[in-house]
Amino acid sequence: MKEILQKADEWLRKGGDIGIPRHSDAVAWLAERFAPFVGADRELAYLVGKLHDVGKVVKEVLKVLRRNRGKSLTEEDWIIVKKHPSLGITILERWERELGYKVDPLVKPGVLYHHAWWNEKGGYPLEEGFFCLGQEEKDFISLIKFADTIASMYGPLFSPEGERTYKKKRGLIEIVDELHRISGTELNDTLVTEFSLLWFSIEESFFKRFKK
Ligand SMILES: [Fe+2]
Ligand SMILES: [Fe+2]
Repeated sequence: MKEILQKADEWLRKGGDIGIPRHSDAVAWLAERFAPFVGADRELAYLVGKLHDVGKVVKEVLKVLRRNRGKSLTEEDWIIVKKHPSLGITILERWERELGYKVDPLVKPGVLYHHAWWNEKGGYPLEEGFFCLGQEEKDFISLIKFADTIASMYGPLFSPEGERTYKKKRGLIEIVDELHRISGTELNDTLVTEFSLLWFSIEESFFKRFKK
């Protein structure tokens, strides 16, 4: 696990100018914190948080994200950006070959489907493989999706420019409201409930850790 984390850190650094390493760190931190609520292994959740956007550092995607800083993506650009989960799998498979081992079976579903909704009715990619997954995989994916959404809601500091649903930074009240709006559809409602209970006591450490 250590070697792959090292590879990820080196790789993600190439997207440092648009905040990809900090975003990935924030998602890893959040995924690790909330892992117990879906019965996931904390270390594994941390790893997949780091890895989820490695596909964004592929040249073609990075170019689009850099060009669109702070702007909305055109339809054409979206097609390219939406490839980042499957590009992430290609990168992971390359690293597996280089390191001579296979990652945990939850890693690839976590990376590939981190933009798919909890209720399986939205996001991407929505394909046969996703619908065939078991509950353990789906719970794990929902954790990564949840951590990614929170990081994105906190705005520019924690999320790369370009592919960002939430363009401006939000306050905690707005975040909780929005989380409740998408709870049970985009997000696993168990995680939203735990967030409401826990966040007031840990928000500060999140900021301390990630704010410049
Ligand atoms: Fe992503
Ligand atoms: Fe992300």
